[in-house]
Amino acid sequence: MTYKIGLLGLGTVGTGTVQILQDKALRHPLLQELEIYRVGVRSLDKPRSVVLPEAMLTTDLDDIVSDRAVDIVVELIGGLEPARSLILKAISHGKHVVTANKAVISRYGPEIFDAANEKGVYVMLEAAVGGGIPVIQPLKQSLGANRITSVFGIVNGTTNYILTRMRFEGADFDAVLADAQRLGYAEADPTADVDGLDAADKIAILASLAFGGRIKLEDVFCEGIKKVSAADIAYAEKLGFVIKLLGVARRVESDGETDRLSVRVHPTLVPLAHPLASINGVYNAILIEGEPLGQVMFFGPGAGAGPTASAVVADILNVAAVLKTETEPIPHPLISCNHQHYCPIAPMADLVTRFYARFLTKDSAGVIGYLGTCFGNNGVSLESVVQTGMRDGLAEIVVVTHDVREGNFSAALSEISQLDAIASIPSVLRVL
Ligand code: HSE
Repeated sequence: MTYKIGLLGLGTVGTGTVQILQDKALRHPLLQELEIYRVGVRSLDKPRSVVLPEAMLTTDLDDIVSDRAVDIVVELIGGLEPARSLILKAISHGKHVVTANKAVISRYGPEIFDAANEKGVYVMLEAAVGGGIPVIQPLKQSLGANRITSVFGIVNGTTNYILTRMRFEGADFDAVLADAQRLGYAEADPTADVDGLDAADKIAILASLAFGGRIKLEDVFCEGIKKVSAADIAYAEKLGFVIKLLGVARRVESDGETDRLSVRVHPTLVPLAHPLASINGVYNAILIEGEPLGQVMFFGPGAGAGPTASAVVADILNVAAVLKTETEPIPHPLISCNHQHYCPIAPMADLVTRFYARFLTKDSAGVIGYLGTCFGNNGVSLESVVQTGMRDGLAEIVVVTHDVREGNFSAALSEISQLDAIASIPSVLRVL
């Protein structure tokens, strides 16, 4: 018995997947029962680094997802359309689906999983978050006994690479981005990465699995790294922090009746002693906290042909194993998606966190006092205040607060911005 794979896309990850499926020695024995049956590509003429029989390749992807012989469709074309339609069509034809497509799953997950459950097929997405890092199946299976309280981490390699170089080279964002693009570490259109959208897709998926409910992507607060400056990175370092773009999903208290989540992406000051502070370059790391487990961190390569293909093939193996052993025609409870309700998401104004803020002010008597008064008026307690020098003829003052409700902090900032002595507030960042 073999399980026939219809592969959609022969780009970086598709090629990595074929390479594993063509080189089965010393890997899991179940791989012997997997067969690449058809491969959908955009162009038949493109030179490839894998050799496949000509007859296996087609540009007609619709024909693959409706092919009666195909058992598992592996969607690796990325983007929203036609990926979404092809996944839905594959499901409607009774195919199991393995995908690396975080954009489709975070936006159309409810539609896709409803269709899959109705049809009794599986949709697997280990490769959609954290590339080669196993985090989806651990959340579904190995951590199933826990009450998860938070899942957070570095889920975008491009921005972590940029922030790492900014830190070690003292360089500004634009210069490092341009060099990262030249070296192939950032896309020609870097929007999805640098604006935090890719990380938002990923944290929405992780939150959904960790907290057993659907997440509306539009409820996920998202702020990218474009405004992070070399000055902030240097101040952060002096204060004992490193700036990382974090995706964060936490269970927060509400009125005592309903638990709400905080789900967000933003640059964050991470204490230098925190395990996420030492995750550098393109690497990803995801920290999960639960009861009774405590903390567990998953670390590894968050992208790339081999690592992502490792996750894709693991999903194919999971489906094949279930197909081989399943006797009941019900979805396997540990690999299917079985929640329907939407998780309530708390507004950012209710978030309780520490803040870092940098002010450019007139260098006159009493300015720090005015700042302190505005913070005090709004119940914001300060942990540290630093004035180390001048920038553009103005005094530069950096504060870090104690934990405060974001709404109170924003109210203090708007009061501060009205002060005559304040020239500008170039940065406001949250602190882990
Ligand atoms: N663009 C993503 C990143 C990789 O930079 O992490 C794919 O998810």
